[in-house]
Amino acid sequence: MKLIAGNWKMNLTPSQTSEYIKAFLPLVEGIEDREVLLCPPFTSLCVAQEALKGSRVKLGAQNCHYEEKGAFTGEVSLDMLKELGVSYVIVGHSERRWLFGEPDELINKKITACLHKGIRPILCVGEKLEEREAGLTFKVIETQIRLALSGIEEYTDKIDIAYEPVWAIGSGNPASPEDAQLVHAFIKELLSQINPRHEGKTRVLYGGSVNTSNAGSFMAMRDIDGLLVGGASLNPETFSQIVKCF
Ligand code: PGA
Repeated sequence: MKLIAGNWKMNLTPSQTSEYIKAFLPLVEGIEDREVLLCPPFTSLCVAQEALKGSRVKLGAQNCHYEEKGAFTGEVSLDMLKELGVSYVIVGHSERRWLFGEPDELINKKITACLHKGIRPILCVGEKLEEREAGLTFKVIETQIRLALSGIEEYTDKIDIAYEPVWAIGSGNPASPEDAQLVHAFIKELLSQINPRHEGKTRVLYGGSVNTSNAGSFMAMRDIDGLLVGGASLNPETFSQIVKCF
């Protein structure tokens, strides 16, 4: 099933989250042929879980720590997230990689921990502008995916991947659907190489300046299995239109 995910980043307080969900649920009621996921900040997960009860909309987190518990000030474990109804975690978002210095080894540990806990990670990968201009897009994507899946190659079907070119995130300058399609097809081929028993259950989402006018053209591409939406997911009306774009 296709997956449309909203990444709220550091936006919306708990009370704003309840308001959002109250407005959002009627707008997506009855939609059963696609998965809809909201990834609010940690502080909103509790109210979101409550507000989403009885609906098909899933709850995700934007980050996690790989250890179960302990002296890791400011971090949040997967057990804590699971108790709040979280079934997905975004791992390796470019803002985590480039603003908070998360290296590939850390991303690998987080993906491994998610698999161990039965939470489906959404691994984010994407090239920077200078890498694209140097013709390095495929190489960068391949390196990021191989390192993220190092030692857990046989679990390719248990993760989803978001292709988010760094230059397209929050810039109003999305990749063209055709360019994204090429990368998505490459990622799927790579997964079959990494895991000879890969069954093709990994959805490859596109992310980066998705809005109501371009969402449909991304979803029309053969290897685009969903969207990871930042800014345009912050308004329930707008995000519901994106959910219904195909
Ligand atoms: P954007 O962000 O839709 O605001 O470009 C996407 C993301 O960072 O996941």
